Amino acid sequence: MNKSIEQSAKCIDCQYRPAFHFTPPANWMNDPNGMFYYEGEYHLFYQYYPDSNVWGPMHWGHAISTDMMNWEHLPIALYPDSLGYIFSGSAVVDHENTSGLGSIENPPIVAIFTYHDMQAEKAGEVKHQTQAIAFSLDKGRTWEKYTGNPVLDNPGIWDFRDPKVSWYEQDKKWIMTLAVKDHIRFYSSPNLIDWQLESEFGKELGAHGGVWECPDLLRLKDENGLSKWALLVSINPGAPKGGSGTQYFIGSFNGKEFIPEDSTTKWLDFGADNYAGVTWSNLPNEEERTLFLGWMSNWEYAQVVPTYSWRSAMTLPRALSLFEIEGRTFIKSSPTDEVNNYLIEQSEVSGTQNNIKDGLAYVLLTEVEGSTAEIVLSNGVKEEFSIFISLDEIRTDRSRSGQIDFNSEFGNIHSSKPTFSQINKIELFLDRSSVELFINDGEMVITELVFPTQPYAKVGVLGADMKVMSVKAAMDNPNVSF
Ligand code: FRU
Repeated sequence: MNKSIEQSAKCIDCQYRPAFHFTPPANWMNDPNGMFYYEGEYHLFYQYYPDSNVWGPMHWGHAISTDMMNWEHLPIALYPDSLGYIFSGSAVVDHENTSGLGSIENPPIVAIFTYHDMQAEKAGEVKHQTQAIAFSLDKGRTWEKYTGNPVLDNPGIWDFRDPKVSWYEQDKKWIMTLAVKDHIRFYSSPNLIDWQLESEFGKELGAHGGVWECPDLLRLKDENGLSKWALLVSINPGAPKGGSGTQYFIGSFNGKEFIPEDSTTKWLDFGADNYAGVTWSNLPNEEERTLFLGWMSNWEYAQVVPTYSWRSAMTLPRALSLFEIEGRTFIKSSPTDEVNNYLIEQSEVSGTQNNIKDGLAYVLLTEVEGSTAEIVLSNGVKEEFSIFISLDEIRTDRSRSGQIDFNSEFGNIHSSKPTFSQINKIELFLDRSSVELFINDGEMVITELVFPTQPYAKVGVLGADMKVMSVKAAMDNPNVSF
């Protein structure tokens, strides 16, 4: 093969590789896992199959960052073993050394994950998923699996996975939030090793068109500093835009039970491509900031999107908080302050049409006239992705966005009823193959993938004043061939 053909063959999907979103070095990635902050570093682990660009035996890939934007890849943290694949889970810093796996001076960092025994699953054995732990005594660089694994056996439930653990200060105990088929189970433990069932939640509440996965129990604040508990629960399939999505409940938690304050099903994102998202543990100012990252894809098509050397990216880091509309509480997801450091002023902004370079853009809309705005991203081959925003409807249209044939549903028009009652601010981030739209600092968010055959080169806006900036590439993403 001559060199230029070889290069272009290697780089067949270069134009889709995000510049400021996390992607794996090569091959398959799904859920974010085990996110914790320690001594200045944000750790991100992720469901990883390093040997192929489709799902397979799951490992925990690993990366670190000081700002959740610019990531350094580290060696794989957890490999599958005789107990199974390493499915999703969380990690905590055990400051009091309750587990006895480290010391007070050097607290162990403990990862809690699901073992998925593939052979047992294939043999039809119900109890093929169990919970296990691993620990690190060197700031998360290397991990040792606990010899007494699993720490929580399967009681006879087919779907029994994705433990998210947090410290419940009032009772000085750990709480594990676990997805169990069509509901959530809360377990507690004094030491991360011995677990006891506290309660169950959700059999009769929320969406039930699929399996519940990747839960997270959080304490969030509203603008007045009032806090409530929130429970995130991903579901697949059965989300409003098809396939995968994340619902949530607002309520209270007393160390044993989660008590919802209303029975509405609420959704974290109104687009099709934000799944299995969870929050960081051990943040320095935990009371003030709750930081979230989601997997920017959908099980409906994640394994067939037209990228080959790598598959899937994470969302931008988002700060979660609460806001109220007519006495009901919702979650707001705002881009974190760190994202702003990657925005570059651009001099020429002209009227309602603007050029963008290299498929990267940040678009800010203010002064929305008559509460209606339309944003269109387009290229020179008549492909476009459009977003229509009004007080009655938000609509995204991927039907002419570029490559859509890899899945029969991908080109569907998505329509949602807004939760906001006025429009103050609209922000859009385009990173080659993804669009994230934040309305009113995240009162409503839409995350969607796009695969234009040529990079979008123009952004047009109707009904609002526009400011376009470029976005600095954060990732040094090698296009690794395999
Ligand atoms: C969610 C999920 C989890 C599971 C993991 C397997 O996307 O299905 O429930 O732990 O992915 O990779």
